[in-house]
Amino acid sequence: MNSLSNQQVSEALSASAANSKGQKLSPLSLLDAFDGNIDRDALKSLAGQSILNPRQFDRRTVLSIAQLAALLESRNVEMDKPLDGKIAITAFFEPSTRTRLSFESAVQRLDGKVLSVPDGQVTGIAKGESLADIGEMFNTYGDVVIMRHPETDSMDEIRKNLQRPLINAGNGSGHHPTQALIDWYALLKWRPELHSEQCPPEKRVHLGIIGTPGSMRAVKSFLRLSLMFTGAVSKITLVSEMADPVGLDLTEPIEQSPIPIEITNDVQEVLPQLDVVYVNSIAFLGDSYRNLDSRYSLDASSPFKDGAVIMHPLARNAELSEDLDETDHNLYFAQAAGAVFVRQALLAAVWDRTDRISGI
Ligand code: CP
Repeated sequence: MNSLSNQQVSEALSASAANSKGQKLSPLSLLDAFDGNIDRDALKSLAGQSILNPRQFDRRTVLSIAQLAALLESRNVEMDKPLDGKIAITAFFEPSTRTRLSFESAVQRLDGKVLSVPDGQVTGIAKGESLADIGEMFNTYGDVVIMRHPETDSMDEIRKNLQRPLINAGNGSGHHPTQALIDWYALLKWRPELHSEQCPPEKRVHLGIIGTPGSMRAVKSFLRLSLMFTGAVSKITLVSEMADPVGLDLTEPIEQSPIPIEITNDVQEVLPQLDVVYVNSIAFLGDSYRNLDSRYSLDASSPFKDGAVIMHPLARNAELSEDLDETDHNLYFAQAAGAVFVRQALLAAVWDRTDRISGI
């Protein structure tokens, strides 16, 4: 990778200041930390693949996506038109602000096209059509399907007939793998040393996760990806009202992880120890949602450690007070602001178009 010109640095600084409040994260320090070429083999391994569960990734692939996202964030590559001629279908059977629109922005900014289904009720689902039949139709309409659905088994259903790559944009209490990539992209920009397997001990982070990974898909995917960063994460504390919040999916990876993991229900006691506090609001309960218990709400008077940052996939409810927005604890707006670049990087890899991006 070539070093950045003054103009590229200036472009990067304006692009990376996209969020209006909270910490602003620059991609440049992350690019500097990598200090080398992008691992093209890791990106190539995603060509033509469906992205369904974060367990598909390894640390090397996550870092390659983050590095490509940082490159995309730091340079104006739109003239390369890397997604020219490709059509993404965004099929959302459950509401979304960020995921659908950031995917659509990602595609269109790189000259691809989008067929958007913002509400499943405008499809034949309203007349009783099956997801499997819709998958059959999508085979001729687009080159990738990005789907959100309230049912955990929906990805299996549409894949009965779908022959195009499928990207899981959130399936019930299942997973939200692209959100986890966005989360780690934000963490790596915030503290680039975390990319190294030999991260200095004083730079390692104690992660606190407030919520129930077993029934909160974003939390579950973030935790799954975090288990890969054994040199960067010194400890994980799960803060939950449940005695066993982990769920079947993650029991084995947690048991096998060298990262110490503890569970507590006392948020006030553990907060002063946490470097990163990841919170989410919504737990999925079959076909309904439940908000986080009010005991776990955070506001500017909560006893945070100096320098601690808060992450949240958003949308928020009462668990995250707006009085935190103007503080340096707010990493959540910068986290959201990185979504377009991560999703561009992922789509370029899935469509095997990374060679068309200048500078890699
Ligand atoms: N983070 C996230 O999934 O947000 P949306 O529900 O708005 O897509």
